[in-house]
Amino acid sequence: MENNPAHVAIIMDGNGRWAKARGLPRIRGHQVGADRVEEIMRIAPEYGVRYLTLYAFSKENWQRPKDEVQFLMGLLSDYLDHKLEELNRNNVVFNTIGRISDMPQLIQEKIARNTEATKNNTGLVTTFAFSYSSRLEIADACRRIAREVQAGRLDAESVDEQTIQDRLYTANLPDPDLLIRTSGEMRISNFLLWQISYSELYVTDKCWPEFTREEFEKAVRDFQKRERRFGLTAAPLRKTS
Ligand code: IPE
Ligand code: IPE
Ligand code: MG
Repeated sequence: MENNPAHVAIIMDGNGRWAKARGLPRIRGHQVGADRVEEIMRIAPEYGVRYLTLYAFSKENWQRPKDEVQFLMGLLSDYLDHKLEELNRNNVVFNTIGRISDMPQLIQEKIARNTEATKNNTGLVTTFAFSYSSRLEIADACRRIAREVQAGRLDAESVDEQTIQDRLYTANLPDPDLLIRTSGEMRISNFLLWQISYSELYVTDKCWPEFTREEFEKAVRDFQKRERRFGLTAAPLRKTS
């Protein structure tokens, strides 16, 4: 396949609505959603994807009912324990972005363990966003820059786009080529605001628990037809007859 997206970022939305529409509790949607995460991680490399970045829990999601948050943390905790072997078998690098220090202590330890245990793998780099807020990420970067200027290690006049880029949680990742959002909402919800400046957007009405290989393939095919311009001149309009 040609013109594959090297970096795909996904706003995995609609777990609750998917469950409700089937008369199931919201948490069932999260469970099935976790299966989709596994599947996408397994198949993404077949489509030339080298980086996969998944919005799993936003900083704003802490405001949800306590039992839903607790369920999500439990699901994550189990995932971190049970999938480590599979990550290594599939040569996946496990990476995270977000305020990991906001997460429960035990989860922080499991994240650190999985990150360490997969750091020498050479396959798909999977980055999970936990307690993530893009605005906070940018504020964190600004604070670091301010400190460096204050300490005399950085000249204020030299601050440019790269200076900020290098201090984001995503400093070691290329920008996403394709941003997918499931369940039809036409918004970004505080995800990777800086990094998606020139990403191609793909929104599907399918909810995350329905986002199977077939749906992923549709998104990739759609991306392959796009003409990315990065501000340059457009190609002439094709004649329709
Ligand atoms: C996405 O599904 C998962 C998280 C945000 C954790 P939602 O839980 O947001 O599902 P909807 O949007 O309410 O249907
Ligand atoms: C975005 O979904 C966050 C995640 C997918 C983790 P939300 O359900 O939180 O977003 P809004 O509230 O619809 O904007
Ligand atoms: Mg939602």
